[in-house]
Amino acid sequence: MRDAEAVQGRGILLIIAGGIAAYKSLELIRRLREQGVRVRCVLTRAAAEFVTPLAVASLAGEKVFSDLFSLTDEAEMGHIRLSREADLVVVAPATADLIAKMAAGLADDLASTALLATDKPVLIAPAMNPQMWQHPATQRNLAQLAADGIRRVGPAPGDMACGETGVGRMAEPAEILAAIEALLAPAVGTLEGVRALVTSGPTVEAIDPVRFIANRSSGKQGHAIAAALRAAGCEVTLVSGPVQEPDPEGVKVVRVESAEQMLAACRAALPVAVAVCAAAVADWRVAEPLAQKLKRRAGAPPTLVLAENPDILKTLARTGPTRPTLVVGFAAETEDLEANARRKLAAKGCDWIVANDVSMDEGTFGSVYNTVKLFRAEAEPEAWPRLSKAEVALRLVACIAAHLRNTSAVAA
Ligand code: C5P
Repeated sequence: MRDAEAVQGRGILLIIAGGIAAYKSLELIRRLREQGVRVRCVLTRAAAEFVTPLAVASLAGEKVFSDLFSLTDEAEMGHIRLSREADLVVVAPATADLIAKMAAGLADDLASTALLATDKPVLIAPAMNPQMWQHPATQRNLAQLAADGIRRVGPAPGDMACGETGVGRMAEPAEILAAIEALLAPAVGTLEGVRALVTSGPTVEAIDPVRFIANRSSGKQGHAIAAALRAAGCEVTLVSGPVQEPDPEGVKVVRVESAEQMLAACRAALPVAVAVCAAAVADWRVAEPLAQKLKRRAGAPPTLVLAENPDILKTLARTGPTRPTLVVGFAAETEDLEANARRKLAAKGCDWIVANDVSMDEGTFGSVYNTVKLFRAEAEPEAWPRLSKAEVALRLVACIAAHLRNTSAVAA
């Protein structure tokens, strides 16, 4: 089952704000309806200047809501019900004005009121002039929305309708659709009771009792995957090196420091159906860590002798009675992404590699965002758009669910 099939019968509240990109939302409605998604639309007053309520209603196959103070609408469908009946609220286009209202918690029309009243996940697809996008006020508002757990797709760089060039174009309907599918699909609970293991964060290799070798992994991606697997119904063990990330709810977290401890904790978590190795495991450890703090001696810097660490991914992927049905590795590359990912698939013996180019300007380490490609043994690589790490996790879990379903169908 693909994500698209998993979203059939689910409902979206689509809030269309007033921007030229509103025309793309018509295409989005059409594509959502093709997937069997129910789409109920709210138009802001300004949006009705760009697309007509009639066009929106015709495509959605439902009445369009636009005025908070319409007594008939309130009687038929209160704004609270409107905001709660959907599985997901999508704002496309999300204008600078509506984003500012959301960040401030204002509720002075139907769109902003529904957004404040909803208890469902919210996805925004911003669209605005590049200067407006870059403005510190907008960036401040976006940071607030991210902290509030609002998901975002886009905007993209390119030529704008206003004649300027820069970041501010609304994501294409296909990209918004993919983000919607990823957000909706795992909630179906397709992995109920499936055992999963995730590694996350860095490993820390002691030099002496106070010094260590580590790396910049934040654990954001691994933790997001553990949370998404849990949300899809898995029984998850998360083996993590030291990170600042909070423990995902409902997940068994085993805290470790070194690669050797991580491997031992992973072994103890077996058997599992799925293993996702997202940890940045140190390739080497100090061969003989010192029991006492190494003293500084002028003119005689110490030489560290390193020993190779066990490869956890490779160990888990080795054929045997405890090999998980699906073993997924990560690859952070700075060049030749495809060749290196393919080589890693073969060398590690895993089934999939999620590869990301860490040479990009925006920086992946510690960031909320990630741009990845999924490599599977006999398939074309899938390039995913720039997504939040939470969305990468949701998409990956949807792929895992589809894969396990297909495998068990074959086995049965
Ligand atoms: O070899 P490289 O470090 O690039 O491979 C990355 C993948 O291998 C990641 O999935 C990482 O978690 C895993 N790995 C591991 N144990 C190691 C080294 C890498 O599990 N010692």
